[in-house]
Amino acid sequence: MLREPIDLAKCVEPDRVRREVYTDPQIFELEMQRIHEQVWIYCGHESQVPKAGDYYTLQIGRQPMLMVRGADGKISVLYNRCPHRGNMMVGDRHGNAGEFFRCSYHAWTFHHDGKLRQIPMYESGYTGTRFTRDNPDCSMKKAARVEVYRGFVFASLAKDGPTLKEFLGPALVAFDDMCDRSPEGEVEVVPNCFRVIQHSNWKIFLENQLDALHPSVTHQSTGRAAHNVEKELEKKAKKGETALKYHMLSAFATVTIDKWDNFQTINYPHGHCVLTGYMGLRPQDPDTLAYDKIMIKAYGQKRFEEIVGVNIHHVIVYPGLSVQSPLQQLRAIRPLGVDRTLTEIWHFRLKGAPEAIYRRSLAYYNLVNSPATLVNADDLENFWKCHQGLSSDGGDWVTFGRHFGHDIDKDGHVESAPNCGTSEAPMRNQMKAWAEYMRA
Ligand code: FES
Ligand SMILES: [Fe+2]
Repeated sequence: MLREPIDLAKCVEPDRVRREVYTDPQIFELEMQRIHEQVWIYCGHESQVPKAGDYYTLQIGRQPMLMVRGADGKISVLYNRCPHRGNMMVGDRHGNAGEFFRCSYHAWTFHHDGKLRQIPMYESGYTGTRFTRDNPDCSMKKAARVEVYRGFVFASLAKDGPTLKEFLGPALVAFDDMCDRSPEGEVEVVPNCFRVIQHSNWKIFLENQLDALHPSVTHQSTGRAAHNVEKELEKKAKKGETALKYHMLSAFATVTIDKWDNFQTINYPHGHCVLTGYMGLRPQDPDTLAYDKIMIKAYGQKRFEEIVGVNIHHVIVYPGLSVQSPLQQLRAIRPLGVDRTLTEIWHFRLKGAPEAIYRRSLAYYNLVNSPATLVNADDLENFWKCHQGLSSDGGDWVTFGRHFGHDIDKDGHVESAPNCGTSEAPMRNQMKAWAEYMRA
């Protein structure tokens, strides 16, 4: 049955959203234009392209892009397109271009910053035409704006708009918290990432990330199984030797719904949000104590306490990032279609920290965030089922009513009320930002 086009102004109410927001291909196109191709989108970490000529491809909205390091060390973000006849400049995910890019079709070549270098047989073929070497249409097009914050590279395809720092606002804490936990104040990426294509709309993933109500339900069976193993190991282990790894999983069963309510969400402009708690834990095992010592030497006791005292479980940088800074995890969201979403799942190494601390991050990466873990599979099944349900005529609305009316408006941000960590405030905040962008 054909439907009337949906009226965008009537799609979003403070506590509910029309289902077409997730399923209508025209709305998806508009989202790409008005949100993803406007705002600051995460491209990657500069350590992904350490040498001159190194490049990494990525998608911003509907645009195939590449991030490349030049001989001068500067990072450019370019459209992955040859200005001659439109061929993609590089067809692989990442690599090294050598001293310049060379198009595989007719061998036009370009400097790392996208500027035209040479056109074969230029004089005989182009003299007297508009295709002069200094015509910008003969160079690869650049992203309108590129900024780097503590090694994290962002690009915006819009000429105007807030600076990266203005856009991120308090969500900067995601990158500060991650880097500050390194004795050298820096992180480096661990190549490579997992890629998962979810058969669901991109917003379903983002809404799930700060949904503190779901873990002890969705991941209950995973948590219980891990808890049983953990108990067996505890019986055999000497004191202080239990694997923290199993705790990462068993927490899904042992942190019950009422405990998740102890955490808090802090909702910021542009749809960004922080979930406090959980990761704020301070283990006292020998590996952690060795790390603490190095950190105290690097920063002094007072600053060390401030750094490890940052109480964050998760940060959403809307519309494209989910960051778990205390364990150096980052997931980038790349919408591919109204019902297809690519997630890139990365993790990082704290420069200067002991190997055991990195192993902890790797364990979390493999056990909780990777496509191989049951946790991820639990979520993916829900995402697919949500998208299927929303594509049906079984109802018109998605509701975000939990603890609605109890949010606390503070200066410039909205907090979930005390003991309301499972509030749907983050989803309300994301959709508020969505509606603002879409009205623009
Ligand atoms: S399309 Fe690239 S050189 Fe012709
Ligand atoms: Fe989950």
